[in-house]
Amino acid sequence: TIRDNLDPNKPMVALTFDDGPHSENTEIILDVLKQYNARATFFVVGYNAEANTDVLKKISDAGCQIGNHTKDHTNLTELTDDEIKEEADYVDKIVKNVTGSPTTALRPPYGAYSERVQQILNKTPLIFWNVDTEDWESLDKNKTVKAVISRVSDGNIVLMHDIHSSTAEAIKEIVPKLVAEGYQLVTVEELLYYKELDIKGGETYPW
Ligand code: NI
Repeated sequence: TIRDNLDPNKPMVALTFDDGPHSENTEIILDVLKQYNARATFFVVGYNAEANTDVLKKISDAGCQIGNHTKDHTNLTELTDDEIKEEADYVDKIVKNVTGSPTTALRPPYGAYSERVQQILNKTPLIFWNVDTEDWESLDKNKTVKAVISRVSDGNIVLMHDIHSSTAEAIKEIVPKLVAEGYQLVTVEELLYYKELDIKGGETYPW
């Protein structure tokens, strides 16, 4: 859902979290978001969505957006047409069962896609990022905070991973800092809406 009380003239940033949901770290992140009236987007993988349906429900109840990060986190460009479709449909089925609605964006694992992948995955926009925190590589709270705060600007989509405790700890600093700087923390859906970007199913953004 898109909130109608955001200010289009104030800066916005969309924090995004891949590879979860995670039984502890995703919940820590949701608590911080709630505290600051902030929202984010979670690109979930099939095996973690299936194992953590309660967390999936909490993401949805918090007004956050659920994106599709495929069933098995495989490089989609190496799969057959049917396999690509199954990778996306599988996650949609789980999310729909738990929240009542299918996913509203998709992020291909490793950011790997092709024209063929785009043609098959044409139900939702394919969403990438402007700021790559490399949080999964550093597993370092301070580096993750710095990666966001030093590089973010209005309209950016930030890539993080909610399966890591270092990222959950970093979020406790990132969210208050961004809010203090005047950023509205929004879902990808809200960002596209307020920036008047009409990204159709199978089209990519921001590259
Ligand atoms: Ni991933």
